[in-house]
Amino acid sequence: MRHLTEIDDLSASELQELLALGATAGAPPVLAGQGAALIFEKPSARTRNSTEMAVVQLGGHPVYIQGQEVGFDTRESVEDVTRTMACFHAVVAARVFDHSVVERMAALDVVPIVNLLSDQAHPLQALADLLTMQTEYGSLAGRSVAYVGDANNVARSLAIAALLAGMEFRIASPDGYGFRPADHHRIAAVGGSLVVATSPEAAVTGADAVYTDTWTSMGQEAEAEQRRRDFAGFQVDESLMALAATNAIFLHCLPAHRNEEVTDGVLDGAQSRIWVQAANRMHAARAAFAWLLRAGE
Ligand code: CP
Ligand code: NVA
Repeated sequence: MRHLTEIDDLSASELQELLALGATAGAPPVLAGQGAALIFEKPSARTRNSTEMAVVQLGGHPVYIQGQEVGFDTRESVEDVTRTMACFHAVVAARVFDHSVVERMAALDVVPIVNLLSDQAHPLQALADLLTMQTEYGSLAGRSVAYVGDANNVARSLAIAALLAGMEFRIASPDGYGFRPADHHRIAAVGGSLVVATSPEAAVTGADAVYTDTWTSMGQEAEAEQRRRDFAGFQVDESLMALAATNAIFLHCLPAHRNEEVTDGVLDGAQSRIWVQAANRMHAARAAFAWLLRAGE
């Protein structure tokens, strides 16, 4: 049985298989007559809708569950919630605050587990990001993506995914907001070219893609004011984009905080691929569910 708690649950060749599946319009009916539990401890627009639609495309029935309904470790243990869901569903996916929750779910090995975002990882987002860049460039190896901002869940999964796909990953973050030693350790295990840049300008210069995410992730709202001050100078604006490669694209997982981490001009500009990227969430989710269910056959 296989799980997707973080991108490095996949080998480099498995990642390529998954990307090929994502680029294919067809949907094998691997979930025909079966359910998929989608548990959300946090809000979602893209992840909920893309995974629900992916499950439908695979012939299955998605059941959306708010975190408080199952109450991980409050109403019932994470393990008992997971065993319960496995009675009804062929796959269980969860958006959680604490990454250890999806790890505990996966450790049971009773049903394939998909991480729909945790404080540490957002693997389905990273798959959609790679799909978007692959469509743009034809292939990923040797290309570079520059991430400007908080070294958060999205950045971490993107780093692992990009390196696993043979890309160069660059990152520029304010002091105190970069990858922690444990992140560096895990990313280094993938191998490849990770560049920790000294400034947004150094990261972006010549890059094939420029990426940013919110400065304040879900659950960090109390730090928003402090973060706004600390991230000054890390906004992706037109002058920063101008340093990237001539055909560079701009990516953002969304939701965007317009004119904070990125200007309207960049978000809505000719280089932006944010809506292709959002649409790719469904293709990535379909590929991930199909791959996991086939892997278990
Ligand atoms: N990018 C992303 O995961 O968006 P949602 O939080 O709306 O699902
Ligand atoms: N880093 C953001 C991503 C939202 C899709 C968060 O965790 O809130």
